[in-house]
Amino acid sequence: MNRIAVFASGFGSNLQALIDFSKNDDLNGEIVLVFSNKSSAYALQRARNHGIKDIFLDPGQFCSRREYDEQVLSILKKEKIDLVVLAGYMLLIGPNILEKFKNRIINIHPALLPAFKGSHGIKDAFDFGVKVTGVTVHFVDECLDSGPIILQQAVEISEDDSCATLEEKIHGAEHRIYPLAVKYFCAGMLKIEGRKVTIKK
Ligand code: GRF
Repeated sequence: MNRIAVFASGFGSNLQALIDFSKNDDLNGEIVLVFSNKSSAYALQRARNHGIKDIFLDPGQFCSRREYDEQVLSILKKEKIDLVVLAGYMLLIGPNILEKFKNRIINIHPALLPAFKGSHGIKDAFDFGVKVTGVTVHFVDECLDSGPIILQQAVEISEDDSCATLEEKIHGAEHRIYPLAVKYFCAGMLKIEGRKVTIKK
């Protein structure tokens, strides 16, 4: 059974989708920790609602990001974490964590990477006027939104869409594919060769 930590800085709807999925589906993994860099993250409350351990660690209380990351690493080690799932986590993952958790950190991005990287993927795609955008689940590497891609799902933008309705569609797609990607990881179905991820079904 894989021990999963979910890192979130905000609302935590993807965390909720993972929790719900794990109750109804065979995930071969358990969410044992929800971690946040923001005390106000509603994701922490969601964890408490489901009896999952929650930890908030304030980056402002540390002299450097390196020290913060060392503390994060020691928590991950203590909790014997196998997989880190980023779900709206708004801090970059430092090199020391990346090294210890190589190919064991995944992220979800609200656009079809490599298009519209960064923290405004939905609005940027909408403002650009693309007709198709989507969501991407990928492994995390040292660059922003750049690691090998596990799953993608396209989302069409219709002429009637506003940025708000697009956001709803994007979240719907995220909540469908993120739990699946976690399931594939936990089942040992993901094989990475260079940039290519294959899914053994
Ligand atoms: C999602 O859109 C995700 O793609 C992005 O941050 C957002 C988090 O939403 N990385 P939530 O906190 O899971 O509701």
